[in-house]
Amino acid sequence: MKAESISQPLSASRAGPLKGRVRVPGDKSISHRALIFGALATGTTRIKGLLEAEDVINTARAVVALGAIAEKQGDIWEVKGRGVGGLRTPDGPLDFGNSGTGTRLMMGVLAGHPMTVTMTGDASLSRRPMRRVLGPLVEMGLEILEPGKETLPLTLRGTSELMPIVYRLPVPSAQVKSAVLIAGLHAAGKTTVIEREPTRDHTERMLRHFGAAVATEAKGEETHITVDGDAELSGKDILVPGDPSSAAFLTAAALIVPGSDITIEGVLINPTRTGLYLTLQEMGGDVTFENVREEGGEPVADIRVRASRLKGVRVPANRAPSMIDEYPVLAAISAFAEGETRMDGLAELKVKESDRLQATAAGLAANGATVHVDGDTLTVVGIGALKGGGIVATHLDHRIAMAFLTAGLASDAPIVVDDATMIATSFPEFRPIMEMLGARFDEVGR
Ligand code: S3P
Repeated sequence: MKAESISQPLSASRAGPLKGRVRVPGDKSISHRALIFGALATGTTRIKGLLEAEDVINTARAVVALGAIAEKQGDIWEVKGRGVGGLRTPDGPLDFGNSGTGTRLMMGVLAGHPMTVTMTGDASLSRRPMRRVLGPLVEMGLEILEPGKETLPLTLRGTSELMPIVYRLPVPSAQVKSAVLIAGLHAAGKTTVIEREPTRDHTERMLRHFGAAVATEAKGEETHITVDGDAELSGKDILVPGDPSSAAFLTAAALIVPGSDITIEGVLINPTRTGLYLTLQEMGGDVTFENVREEGGEPVADIRVRASRLKGVRVPANRAPSMIDEYPVLAAISAFAEGETRMDGLAELKVKESDRLQATAAGLAANGATVHVDGDTLTVVGIGALKGGGIVATHLDHRIAMAFLTAGLASDAPIVVDDATMIATSFPEFRPIMEMLGARFDEVGR
């Protein structure tokens, strides 16, 4: 296993009001997909606003290793693709770093190519379950060269003769849905994924934009998503909106730091992603979507946030897919609400970059909050304040780090996170943007 980078503890201290208008970098989910579909298209894809964070850069490196061209010209990323099924064998293993999305989506791509590829990742990614993607892909024809192995590093052999399947998602996961649909592009016939709870639909939207036939049909409680095989994609222009999962930290910070009033411009508000914003409004948060418009096939708004008195709420399990990455920050600021915030249906939180259910509960407890984990439910007892003064173990998880740095901006004593380096995987500008708004962070032990 390769050495991880040296950790950098960081502390967040009580800040004066946060003020200003800012933008957050491009959406991570859309950025991965733009690079991957660009590589599978013929012709040139031009991507504006691509997220230049480690996770996405690893996907860019992977598509280049597979024979596509991906390079920055001015402020546009240009991808010259090789057509569906046209990628070539890379010279060495593909390293996906910390990124589950890059890994799982790319498994769908590799499944449709008759070549053998080794995929690797960091210590966090190497612990994450891959069976959820490998299961359906093996049914379609992918081979795992170490049968029975279900975590990275993995060596896989794809085929140009994938079988189409009908696959009912056992877990609400956009990554699994996307991997099967991407493999379906290469198969001979129609591939259908059936989901019970709607998960982010960027794959469906973007595949249509690239010219694939993707049909979405509601059937009772379920949605059937069908992609036609033997697909041809052609290069397109893509505009990547601001990432609502990054904007979440700014939003949460402005709500709890007294006197704050910020606007975050150009944020994606696709309803499959906005569960946190709805929840914050239910808590009494002054969060409004202004100047709502459509950009590049996705709904976008400027989000205005003013500091608010929050009250505890119950967050229903069926909302989880639309805010799955936002629970750590929601839980962290729930301590500042009055009353209990109960979050149900959090099973998927346990298999993210860390076990986020445990990491979030432990971080809150270390900072004086009363918190309970009961099965898949997390309850935070809000008392209108958080003591702070604790050290948070981040377990190579960017969102645990950012969630507690956010809470530290309003806690009585500073909060220290044991490692802020992983923030670069999704939101390298987190610190400068927060500081521009008035936040205060200090390096610890240097
Ligand atoms: C993502 C889907 C989610 C999310 C991840 C990005 C995607 O994961 O947590 O950050 O881009 O499809 P799951 O699909 O595993 O829930």
